[in-house]
Amino acid sequence: MLAHLLRLHGISSVVIETRSREYVEHRVRAGVLEQGSVDLLERTGVGERMRREGLVHHGIQLRFSDSDHRVDFGALTGGRGITVYGQQELVKDLINLRLDAGEPIYFEVSQVTLRDIDSDRPIITFVHDDTETTLGCDVIAGCDGFHGVSRSTIPDGVLNAYEREYPFAWLGILATVAPSSEELIYCYHERGFALLSMRSPTVSRLYLQVAADERIDDWSDARIWEELQTRFTLDGWTLQEGPIIEKAISALRSYVVEPMQFGRLHLAGDAAHIVPPTGAKGMNLALRDVSILADALTSFYRTGDTASLDGYSAQCLRRVWRAQHFSWWMTSMLHRFPDSDAYQAQLQLAQLAYTVHSRAAATSLAENYVGYEWGTS
Ligand code: PHB
Repeated sequence: MLAHLLRLHGISSVVIETRSREYVEHRVRAGVLEQGSVDLLERTGVGERMRREGLVHHGIQLRFSDSDHRVDFGALTGGRGITVYGQQELVKDLINLRLDAGEPIYFEVSQVTLRDIDSDRPIITFVHDDTETTLGCDVIAGCDGFHGVSRSTIPDGVLNAYEREYPFAWLGILATVAPSSEELIYCYHERGFALLSMRSPTVSRLYLQVAADERIDDWSDARIWEELQTRFTLDGWTLQEGPIIEKAISALRSYVVEPMQFGRLHLAGDAAHIVPPTGAKGMNLALRDVSILADALTSFYRTGDTASLDGYSAQCLRRVWRAQHFSWWMTSMLHRFPDSDAYQAQLQLAQLAYTVHSRAAATSLAENYVGYEWGTS
């Protein structure tokens, strides 16, 4: 996305990727785009297939105490909503756009090293097709995820890390069955959280809270459906089952490094921050980071002044921390914690009831879910 935005501003870039094209186009990741992300994609000419195939939602269901409670985004946020569109679909669209424009992406590179990142000529070396390549750069964007090399290249003592680990994980499946609900269902249950989402009118995406050390091999398809059925039980509602085509367990983590930059290296997305998926914020934060970075780079090339680049981290972090809080809050309200007692469960239920019954509380959830906009202040 950053390379796409830069190209629109006439700035050339090289994208290097350690994985294969096949892998990044098929790896199942996030699925929810905030209204602001949708607007960004449409405004910059990459929204065509998303508009056709994405599923627009104007609310979610919170299921607890044997009933569904709708949070109506449309009514609470002045008509805003979200679009369900798989991250890998957006990745496909962006790759196609870039390759059609004749711009480079090097897939399956290895031995990536960053040097001289605090000079005005940082250097990347990598191996591609058995050939070592050296790139002299003006600026490097570290968009290489939580485990990428970028963040670890920054010298010790520069970054402050803030972190929270959660004592549970999510088991996620894709199943070829029509979603049993038009809207996402976030379900609080004494056996743990469950989420019903979707990828298309014929593909469901479902999640179960499981123990942090759970192994996917211990979860047969039958066991997964049985547990989903138990947690989603509701009179008059049926969870439709179908063939499971993908299943995996992922840990939940909250993480932020500050500042999100050092010298001429700027971190974006998961390279700088991680949220637990309960708030559906991951892909949106990454898109917003690179949009801010693209604007800062445009100003840098226009004026030769690094002021806007220097302000990149501060500009991102306000939104990053809002999303951190929202994601932590949703996670805390909806999951069963291993050390939680009956009192804790009652607190969660009290919070859920308040969230759906108070217009003020529901508005807070809704405006965060569709993406809180700080405006220019
Ligand atoms: C998804 O569809 O993958 C999804 C949706 C909402 C979430 C997390 C994941 O909060």
